[in-house]
Amino acid sequence: MCRLVAAVFAISLTAAACAGSAPEVPVGADGTIDPELQVGRDVYAENCKSCHGANGDRRSDSDLTKLDSDDIDSFADIVSNGLRRMPAFAAAFTDEQLDAVVRYSIEVL
Ligand code: HEC
Repeated sequence: MCRLVAAVFAISLTAAACAGSAPEVPVGADGTIDPELQVGRDVYAENCKSCHGANGDRRSDSDLTKLDSDDIDSFADIVSNGLRRMPAFAAAFTDEQLDAVVRYSIEVL
């Protein structure tokens, strides 16, 4: 009985941890993970997830899963300079971090 309770507890902890983290960067065609996308995932999890949700779709007015590569310039501009209630990140990020989080949001979310 105790073992069953412990197993159920472990599974629910794992599920909770997975639900809260941003999607993993998929392995590319060459069998490796793009390091820039990996940086983007870390930047996203630390700076964006609180408002946009782990999967980028928490806000219906700014659903990041609906962005595509045509949006890349305006997306980078919004993240740098903010937009109405969206904070500006230009002062907080290096150019590499900015490019990485924009790519991650478009390619992985
Ligand atoms: C404090 C909450 C908050 C944080 C943190 C935040 N955002 Fe936003 N974001 C918003 C809001 C609110 C909007 C909608 C802006 C508006 O129209 O008022 C938005 C809009 C956007 C848009 C425009 C989407 C569209 O459909 O036009 C992008 C892109 C975006 N955010 C990316 C990011 C990224 C990337 C990060 C992390 C670097 C981030 N946001 C962090 C609140 C936030």
